[in-house]
Amino acid sequence: MRAMSVARAQEGKLDSVREDNLAMEIKRVTPILGAEIIGVDLSKPLSNAEFDTVHKAFVTHSVLIFRDQDLSAQNMIDFSSQFGPLMIHVLKESLLEGHPEIYKLSNRRKKGKSEGRAYAGQYWHSDLTYEPRPSLGSLLYGIEVPEVGGDTLFASTAHAFETLSPTLQTMLEGLTAEHLFAHAFRGGINRAARDGDPLNERPAVHHPVVRPHSVTGRKSLFVNEGFTVRINELTPDESSAMLSFLFNHMTRPDVVLRHHWRPGDAILWDNRALVHRGVNDYGDEDIRHMHRTTIEDRLV
Ligand code: SIN
Repeated sequence: MRAMSVARAQEGKLDSVREDNLAMEIKRVTPILGAEIIGVDLSKPLSNAEFDTVHKAFVTHSVLIFRDQDLSAQNMIDFSSQFGPLMIHVLKESLLEGHPEIYKLSNRRKKGKSEGRAYAGQYWHSDLTYEPRPSLGSLLYGIEVPEVGGDTLFASTAHAFETLSPTLQTMLEGLTAEHLFAHAFRGGINRAARDGDPLNERPAVHHPVVRPHSVTGRKSLFVNEGFTVRINELTPDESSAMLSFLFNHMTRPDVVLRHHWRPGDAILWDNRALVHRGVNDYGDEDIRHMHRTTIEDRLV
């Protein structure tokens, strides 16, 4: 009975499934992606059965929301490193002292400086696609969050691929794209790279435009507004028109999950299957202080 309802929930057929043996409930958040996991304390080691259930829900729903968590840096590292090795972010000044696996997103100020990267990721992206081996997933933990605003948006790039015509799908499957860390900081999104700047530290890398998921094999569009510079096999005009079409297609309002944060929320998302972005509709007087780990995809 339990196995059957878990399987049906994983196929997206049930809105909610209770894992009686594990005291765990999985509640879908939108028809396309996202689930809230109720009854799991991430500060404690998970049993094999609990981890398997969480892992299955992760690759099925792409975004897992865990409410009311109380996580130390080490708890975050212990939980997320069960999915794969953790990646160290290129922006060294935003890493947590003593725990470089933790990337700080924060507009909280100490000695005249923000404590982490303030207003990071305010453009659609998948984390660290500018690395030669991209990311499997990220865990973001809200320590202090605005009462109103500062939401995170998620959109399924698997659903986006599946809703293209077979003709376009076939064409895109033969293409590759260039990804560059500094790209997100160009065009006014943030700032220009200067000499000696970490923005210059990561050379461009190339990835297929369509990426099969390393566990399920489900295909996703693997281009994003933040870091994808061009599609290599197209002319500059064709590439820019195609990317702009794909970026719009994958982030239409009817397919977006919008999460409003409460302190203690921890969200695990699958960078192989979605793009996400923060929303900067709050100001310096509203503190948004978060910790993130980023997991490498060693399965490819
Ligand atoms: C991120 O890209 O990890 C940041 C998302 C957010 O701040 O909501």
